[in-house]
Amino acid sequence: MKKSESKRDFLKKGLTLGIGLPLVGTGLLSCMAEGESKKTPLRILILGGTSFLGPHQVAYAISRGHKVTTFTRGKTIPTVNTEAFEQVESLIGDRQDNLTALENREWDVVIDNSGRAADWTHRTAELLKDKVGMYLYISSTGVYYPHREANVDEDTPVLLKDPLKEDGTAPERDSFGVMKAKSELEAIKSFGEDRTTVVRPTYMLGPADRTDRFMYWPLRLAKGGDIFVPGKADDPVQYIDVRDVAEWCIRLAENKTAGTYNAAGPQNPQGVLEFAEKASKAFDVESNIVLVEDTAFLKEQRVSFIIPWIMPEDDYYASALVQNKRAIQAGLSFREVKTTVKDTYDWWNSEAVDTERKTKYEQNTRTVLAREKAILEAWQVAKG
Ligand SMILES: NC(=O)c1ccc[n+]([C@@H]2O[C@H](COP(=O)([O-])OP(=O)(O)OC[C@H]3O[C@@H](n4cnc5c(N)ncnc54)[C@H](OP(=O)(O)O)[C@@H]3O)[C@@H](O)[C@H]2O)c1
Repeated sequence: MKKSESKRDFLKKGLTLGIGLPLVGTGLLSCMAEGESKKTPLRILILGGTSFLGPHQVAYAISRGHKVTTFTRGKTIPTVNTEAFEQVESLIGDRQDNLTALENREWDVVIDNSGRAADWTHRTAELLKDKVGMYLYISSTGVYYPHREANVDEDTPVLLKDPLKEDGTAPERDSFGVMKAKSELEAIKSFGEDRTTVVRPTYMLGPADRTDRFMYWPLRLAKGGDIFVPGKADDPVQYIDVRDVAEWCIRLAENKTAGTYNAAGPQNPQGVLEFAEKASKAFDVESNIVLVEDTAFLKEQRVSFIIPWIMPEDDYYASALVQNKRAIQAGLSFREVKTTVKDTYDWWNSEAVDTERKTKYEQNTRTVLAREKAILEAWQVAKG
């Protein structure tokens, strides 16, 4: 068995890398709602836990008195909620070929964040099915790809096999959506429907995001002035604060809620204009939204998405039209988008994001952030 890294070693590694940020924006010391009964502490195993979604699950779980174990390769060091990791047991292994650290142990629930192959889920679910009460698999609304149908819900059939390539041969590996759909079934096969929870998040936003795909909004809106917003006013957008997903996962585990759920926000359908207006409230500056609705112009400018907006065409026609009713009934709640934008901005400007990453993104001349002024000037010319 590979050694179980002590919390101190783990934290020390984080500190050596100059990472340290207090518990981010969750109000963690008071996250028990009024009137909410105290839950029995759970032993929670998180497969993963140290990148984006994981640290928010960890912090919320610890704040509610649960015991948390993470299982990773020990490569990714958490950049937020680092204090919470002082109380976490960190197991080291590899989902690809080393699950030894998970053997002969018991937990109440396993949360599988790090699934990247159906076979990985098969092996962990088989190994843990008699030792763990429940399997919570983090899937994705990507299971509905290609997104050609509006209002899909959890009962909509999903692809379990990729179409053949143009040359008639089968693809070498599963596409992301097919991999997630097959993984969900692997969890259910081992744990049974009554002990499996599948959470399908849409685009998650918030502190600790390792992608830069949302950063246009906080960085641009913070400055005010004329703000380029692409798309028709009613082009649908869906997104969710990563902390809303994380906290809900822990509550699903506390309540032993099984079933499949689309974790998609906001609560009510929203167009890109409303999104931009609400997001701009994150900052106390004057903003003037310049909505550029002309699809041909946007394509000419190579603007086909700025998450959460994706040009609603072809295979992405309905990517932001996923039903969220079942999840809301099961207790999913949503932060206001201005909170997500402000907290993401503050996180980006904190030490949790290294200077190299900030500089690389902010000076990348190909991003819409860098090209915005030129796009708006070209738009004035195009309009005549
Ligand atoms: N981001 C989005 O918008 C979005 C939307 C829908 C669904 N999702 C899904 O959300 C899930 C959560 O992702 P996250 O990255 O935020 O989770 P996370 O639990 O915070 O981080 C991923 C973890 O996986 C570990 N890991 C990677 N490869 C591993 C391996 N071979 N063996 C063991 N551990 C390994 C990493 O640690 P080490 O590197 O140290 O191993 C890291 O702790 C993913 O399944 C993703 O598909 C994301």
